[in-house]
Amino acid sequence: SRVWRGLIEEYRDRLPVSATTPVVTLLEGGTPLVPAPKVSALVGCDVFLKVEGLNPTGSFKDRGMTVAISKAVEEGAQAVICASTGNTSASAAAYAVRAGLTCAVLVPRGKIAMGKLAQALVHGAKLLQVEGSFDDCLEMTKKLAENYPIALVNSVNPHRLQGQKTAAFEIVDALGSAPDVHCIPVGNAGNISAYWMGYQEYAAKPPKMFGFQASGSAPIVNGAPVTHPHTIATAIRIGNPASWKLAEAARDESGGVIQAVTDRQIAAAYKLLAQGEGVFVELASAASVAGLLQAHEQGLLQPGQRVVCTVTGNGLKDPDWAISGAPAPVTIPIDAYAAAAALELA
Ligand code: F0G
Repeated sequence: SRVWRGLIEEYRDRLPVSATTPVVTLLEGGTPLVPAPKVSALVGCDVFLKVEGLNPTGSFKDRGMTVAISKAVEEGAQAVICASTGNTSASAAAYAVRAGLTCAVLVPRGKIAMGKLAQALVHGAKLLQVEGSFDDCLEMTKKLAENYPIALVNSVNPHRLQGQKTAAFEIVDALGSAPDVHCIPVGNAGNISAYWMGYQEYAAKPPKMFGFQASGSAPIVNGAPVTHPHTIATAIRIGNPASWKLAEAARDESGGVIQAVTDRQIAAAYKLLAQGEGVFVELASAASVAGLLQAHEQGLLQPGQRVVCTVTGNGLKDPDWAISGAPAPVTIPIDAYAAAAALELA
């Protein structure tokens, strides 16, 4: 059986690396494309989930980070910095450890999930909680990278999107061709842009790109930046996406859409994935499936089409949300009969 070597080795000829680039990898990529029978039945299409939560740090960010950190090392960087709603910082922190770099991260205070905070801290990143939004954090990191010897690893760094485009390659390899429709959450808008790049490069007939923002953080849908973005899906709580123009190009060139989904729709899709498919994702990730259900209601899908939804991050990132939405566990004594009664077996 073939062993996965990490996405730089797997797709070396399509990435901006040379024989002398030091490859910094945690063997990211190679994530499963899982059929989703419950969602498929709801929309009358063949739906697959690209489960990006199975990357080394639990999100798709690792795809971009392996390339960005490898290039940063090649270019002589000793420190990296990023702004993040949590996943980028978790990934940057881990890959920086791997490369022997110091890592600084700026996050919006109180607006990142606990697991992500834990990851940045456990990997030893210098973490600053900013009293502002992700967009404020990104402006600050850009200034810092311009004025100090510290490399920016946000997706405004083009190496990030190069790495992330490989998810589209994997989907084409797994299905034998591109799907008809690809659904994806949109925050800073890098990932939809990266997939579109990947599909154009690798597929004979690229899919329509369907991007979904949270309705309280939907600048591209509204056509204007959102000054005070809000949503339960904190990963995509972004009011002024860096890759705005690229995302619009992906939408328009593919014949797709970028729409808003409400927090209520996102929460329902989260529950559907957890309890209908056995796939535990974070809230932002469920926006792709919430959007697919909405697109179905709007008649944007044809029966039997093949659809891929990227589920971008692992549900374990945000245990607070998972627990708050579930019934409280029942406590019993050491007594099998009590267990049977509580389980309504008797
Ligand atoms: N889903 C998750 C779980 C994310 O963490 C992000 C972005 C997105 C979707 C949206 O992807 O920004 O490329 O449009 N998270 C960034 C971060 C902003 O800092 O971790 P995008």
